[in-house]
Amino acid sequence: MSSAGRFVTFEGIDGSGKSTQARLLAETLRAAGRDVVLTREPGGSPGAEEIRRLVLEGEPDRWSAETEILLFTAARRDHLERTIGPALGDGKVVICDRFADSTRVYQGVSRGDLRGLVDRLHDLMIGREPDLTILIDMDPATGLDRALGRGGQEERFEDFGPDLQRRMRAGFLALADEFPARFRVVDGNRGIEAVAADVRRIADRSLS
Ligand code: ADP
Ligand code: TYD
Repeated sequence: MSSAGRFVTFEGIDGSGKSTQARLLAETLRAAGRDVVLTREPGGSPGAEEIRRLVLEGEPDRWSAETEILLFTAARRDHLERTIGPALGDGKVVICDRFADSTRVYQGVSRGDLRGLVDRLHDLMIGREPDLTILIDMDPATGLDRALGRGGQEERFEDFGPDLQRRMRAGFLALADEFPARFRVVDGNRGIEAVAADVRRIADRSLS
């Protein structure tokens, strides 16, 4: 796969403002004349959107941790083959709401230490990291309130509760330490515009 374009991901706990900020960054870059593909995980291609329903709806114990890793990785592989890879090959900026770091954190640490398995499967089937990852860090209780406030059916992970959200936050911060070259951490406990201004500055520096 050619990687002439730029691959930007947003990460963070549920309700941290990733979708909002990904959309705002896409609008800003498009207004500046960049060709942008805004996408998300799980999903982002027709097949991966079908898998999204399987993993996000239903009871929290619907899948074993190992099966869940396979499903998220299958969705990612399809997304990469059909959406991300071709767009990067065409020189576009791809902005993705969650990517492999979410699997490292959610499946890697939520139910036992499965990070080794997540990494091995990633190396075998995905093998691509973002050029830039913006981690929106925020207070887990506020994040959960915001996420539950949205309503909807996709609450399998939110149903795991506040303690899990705290561990996920710590997991994302640990990943930012592990991959400092591509991670930038933004304080999400502020208004949408203040967060967006930080995101714009980071993207300007990284994408110019
Ligand atoms: P995520 O994609 O991380 O789950 P969203 O962007 O969907 O988060 O935001 C969750 C909810 O919180 C939405 O209703 C959104 O409008 C709201 N929201 C997003 N960012 C902020 C912010 N900085 N301050 C207050 N509310 C926000
Ligand atoms: P998302 O739609 O981004 O939820 P939110 O807007 O609440 O942040 O993602 C849905 C859920 O999927 C979220 O709780 C995290 C989970 N998830 C994983 O567990 N592993 C993964 O690899 C991905 C991409 C998401």
